[in-house]
Amino acid sequence: SGVRLIDTFGRAATDLRVSLTDRCTLRCTYCMPAEGVPWLPGTAILTDDEVVRLVRIAVERLGVTEVRLTGGEPTLRPNLVELVGRLAALRPRPELSLTTNGLTLARSAGALRSAGLDRVNVSLDTTDPARFRAITRRDRWSDVVAGLAAAAEAGLRPVKVNAVLTRGVNEDEAPTLLRWCLERGYEARFIEQMPLDAQHGWDRASMVTAAEILTALRAEFALTAVGDRGSAPAELFHIDGGPATVGVIGSVTAPFCAACDRVRLTADGHVRNCLFAREEGDLRTPMRSGETDDELAERWRQAVWIKRPGHGIGEPSFRQPDRPMSAIGG
Ligand code: GTP
Ligand code: 5AD
Ligand code: SF4
Repeated sequence: SGVRLIDTFGRAATDLRVSLTDRCTLRCTYCMPAEGVPWLPGTAILTDDEVVRLVRIAVERLGVTEVRLTGGEPTLRPNLVELVGRLAALRPRPELSLTTNGLTLARSAGALRSAGLDRVNVSLDTTDPARFRAITRRDRWSDVVAGLAAAAEAGLRPVKVNAVLTRGVNEDEAPTLLRWCLERGYEARFIEQMPLDAQHGWDRASMVTAAEILTALRAEFALTAVGDRGSAPAELFHIDGGPATVGVIGSVTAPFCAACDRVRLTADGHVRNCLFAREEGDLRTPMRSGETDDELAERWRQAVWIKRPGHGIGEPSFRQPDRPMSAIGG
């Protein structure tokens, strides 16, 4: 393998997604059960110094240009603002983004922006507070809405809203949510559910598909495809001839794996070359036993080198990963 993070299919991983914790303040039904999941032990979680060191190796030696902080819920991390500041001080400076449930943004958006965060993606599946409570098992809809406003106000733009639709719960909500986002200047994106829930309850037949979502949107909006999405997961559409766009992320029915430029670092310091990877490269153990930056960089290259061509959902050999989405990172 060369210097950058390349795999045997010639893809280069330049987008690093760092999970800062596997814990979350919500309990979305499509993600985890009400009682939560067995959390990673505190000693397994990377310290701030360890996160900064590994991200530094990634940007200095491995060609990573974008860093997205994920969870669980990354804002649960103590000293997140300071950590963002340390990551923003790396050279070459990576683009820094955050995927969050938005609950605490009303308090922290300004400080995160000042520390160097560039933008946020906020998860919100409904414009209805009662539905929000049913989906997330917490009565916090208005906190997310306040968080979104604070993020836009602080300049964490573009603000993207990630929505997952669930059959029989909010499957009718695509046009409503899109209109709500347009009125506030947020970019709505609709995401197909993937088999990454802790309960292993996902089934293809009940998944709300990208095609369905598009049909529902087209009943109320004129959508024209934006050409060339590059390595972005979302297929983008202009709305009613205007500059605003909506994204549809068809991870299952229209995988973007062939153009995938992602690599993940879990909160316990393992490299995952794919959401659906079957092997991980442990960096925490060798780091804690004293390996050099060179040695860790080489392990990282190895872990990406063996990335499979695609997620394989639907193939007979497909097996859902043991790690749920909440412990991999969004
Ligand atoms: P942008 O840089 O803003 O486009 O970010 P993003 O869309 O990559 O990030 P975000 O964390 O908001 O992810 C949105 C959704 O895309 C996630 O909830 C996942 O469902 C899906 N997604 C993210 N990363 C991957 C991936 O590597 N593979 C697949 N198949 N889906 C992904
Ligand atoms: N499939 C697709 N997206 C999911 N998310 C959580 N679980 C899944 C899943 N199984 C979404 C959340 C959030 C983002 C981080 O990931 O709704 O928007
Ligand atoms: Fe990349 Fe794996 Fe996601 Fe496909 S499923 S886009 S290979 S991370």
